Amino acid sequence: MNTNTNNDRTLPTVDRARSEAWFLAETVLGMNATCVLHGPAGTGKTYAAATIARPGSPVPVVMTMTDETSAADLLGHYIAGPNGFEWKDGPAVLAMRAGARLVINEIDHASGDAIAALYAIADERDTLARTGVALGNGEHVFPAAGFHVVATSNAEPADALRGEGIASRFALRVHLPDAHPAAVDALPEDCRKAAAASCVNPDPEQRLTLRSWRIFADLRHQIGQPLAAALAFGPGRADAITDSLAVAAA
Ligand SMILES: Nc1ncnc2c1ncn2[C@@H]1O[C@H](COP(=O)(O)OP(=O)(O)OP(=O)(O)O)[C@@H](O)[C@H]1O
Ligand SMILES: [Mg+2]
Repeated sequence: MNTNTNNDRTLPTVDRARSEAWFLAETVLGMNATCVLHGPAGTGKTYAAATIARPGSPVPVVMTMTDETSAADLLGHYIAGPNGFEWKDGPAVLAMRAGARLVINEIDHASGDAIAALYAIADERDTLARTGVALGNGEHVFPAAGFHVVATSNAEPADALRGEGIASRFALRVHLPDAHPAAVDALPEDCRKAAAASCVNPDPEQRLTLRSWRIFADLRHQIGQPLAAALAFGPGRADAITDSLAVAAA
């Protein structure tokens, strides 16, 4: 078993009996391995990728892919400065130089151009250490020890990692079908059971994210439960949710 410590925590922090998936995810994150975390929205993938790491690791560099994200957005480009054009490293290169984790959110949205850069960035450690990554300023950057990539996605790997080349670079995959236990425990006790179930409801129409539950929990102190539920979950569902909380509390 992996027993890395991160600050004052021993990894994995998650009780295996409570969540096998998160136990495995934290084990992988403690190994600083290139991998993809995938599962429903708002369950804690980014939070975990940004906060759970081997002790002494540099702070992760986090970026989110959109259809517009280019290879230059990842690697760097020239910008106009007071002394003319100057090279500015992109997030991937900052992470490589620091030996940090690069978190790539929503990898399923990566454009073909960004994928081309990820081919180099997420290559196997030994290959990357030999080849480095070519930058637009002519430099070849080589990763400092500890550099690795953690991708996140709501889509299944078959859809998120299109093409054998990128799929094989993220061969280590952890499916997270439930919310991180600490994210559930951060909610008031009376909301936890309903939140844990509803945030991963297979029917997207019925799903209520942990973010909505957080809003509900924060607002109800200020404006009362019925109004908070209407704002957080929508007026159409507010009564059913507050009724179910009352039944659970009885
Ligand atoms: N370990 C945790 N402890 C406390 N709160 C957490 C934890 N993990 C997640 N959360 C809460 O849940 C919210 C959603 O988490 P996060 O953004 O990591 O989800 P995600 O799975 O990356 O979602 P998406 O798929 O939409 O990107 C966070 O903003 C935070 O409030
Ligand atoms: Mg995320």
